[in-house]
This record gives sequence, C-alpha cells and structure tokens, in this order.
Amino acid sequence: MDIRIFKNEQEIGVAAGQLFCEFVKEKPECVLGLATGATPVPTYNYMAAQYAEGNVSFKDITTFNLDEYCDLPKEHKNSYYSFMFENLFSKIDVNPENVNFLDGNTTDPEAESARYAEAIASKGGIDVQLLGIGRNGHIAFNEPADAFTGESFKIALTQSTIDANSIYFDDIPMPRYAMTMGIGSIMKAKKIVLIATGSSKAEAVKGMIKGEVTPQLPASILQQHDDVVIFLDEAAAALL
Ligand code: PGA
Repeated sequence: MDIRIFKNEQEIGVAAGQLFCEFVKEKPECVLGLATGATPVPTYNYMAAQYAEGNVSFKDITTFNLDEYCDLPKEHKNSYYSFMFENLFSKIDVNPENVNFLDGNTTDPEAESARYAEAIASKGGIDVQLLGIGRNGHIAFNEPADAFTGESFKIALTQSTIDANSIYFDDIPMPRYAMTMGIGSIMKAKKIVLIATGSSKAEAVKGMIKGEVTPQLPASILQQHDDVVIFLDEAAAALL
C-alpha cells in the first residue's frame, strides 16, 4: 500500500485530483470508478477546476459509480446519481451517455448485478477506482460481514451507516437498502485510490492498514491488491 499523509482534506483534494487528471491526460478513454460521500468532494472540485481552466478534458472517459440507494427515485436530491451530477458531472465535459450507475430500483438485483459486471467488462474493466471508507471499515456499501462479497448485490445497511448518512435526509427517511458493487468487483480495478479524512475514520484506517484481513473490516482486503494508493489527512492517520 502506498500511503500518503497530508495536512487536511483540501491538500488531499489537490493531490488525488492531480492523480486523476494526470491519468485522464495519459489515457483519455479511461474507465474511472467513482465514489460518493463527503470525502471525494475536494477531489471532484479540483478536477472540475482543472477542466474549467482548460487543462484537462473528460469527454472520452467512462465512469461507473460504486453504489446507489434502493427505493429512492433516481432524480431525488439524495440519490447518488444526483450527487454525481451536482458535484462533478455537471461541471465537466463527460458524456452523460458514458456515466453508469447501478439501478437502485431494480426488481431483480441479480440481473442488475450481471448487467453491471458485463458493462464494466465490455469497457475493459475499471482503470482507477476511487474509494472512501466508512467508520465501520466498509467500502462502497460492503458492510462488515462473515465473508467477503463478490459482484454487485443488494445490501441492508447497518446502523453505523444509517447514523452516518441520515443527516443528509431531511425530507424522507433514509433508505435502508442499497445496491453496491461487491468486494470482488472492486478488487478487479487495476488501480485503487482510497481517501480517508477526519478522526472518525482513524480506527477503520488503522484496521485497514495494520489489522488482519477480515470481512469484519471490509477495507482490509485492500492489503491484497497490488496497486493501492491511500490518501490520509493527519486526523485519519492518527492511530498508525
Ligand atoms: P463519507 O463516506 O465520505 O461521507 O465519510 C465514506 C463512506 O462511507 O464510504
């Protein structure tokens, strides 16, 4: 694991944003795996600023997002589809036809999982996958469990995740289920970039890097991937 520690989330936004922009400049038709949540926002801001300044174009990229809430209209402001357009896609020149999401409203999660896996494979796989980490060590919505998961699937969210994310739901109750890429799909990405900021992530970060590899802390599987870059601020790195 290539661990890089920065003072704060703004510095990480620049460093991680540079990594993505440089990658896109080198491989304009690349496939990016993208994440939602508060953590990647400074990175997306940097990417949008670089586009606004004419330093990079995203017009030929393809994106696959990690997860999506179930039982929430795609257009609702809290869907991850809306999040991505608000925080990144509306600010860059990505082709909306080339952005991909799991369908959280599918009535057939298994078929939806197969569709997503095929769509990713048809593009040659994910070149760089961006990840955050949950306070409980989840990546995407792969919650602590007895076994590592495979391809995408429907999951019941844990109380830790509901507590962390319900602050964003002011008009309706937070969904209790999500469609998420599984650990197996995530581990197929050629390169993985994980960002963790803030003291609430310190325990999970320590387990991910120094603990045993266990599905009880899903991010620990990244120890077994051979190209992982981890961006931490000082608070998230405090227990290393
Ligand atoms: P956050 O979520 O960026 O909002 O902290 C990260 C995650 O749960 O993966």
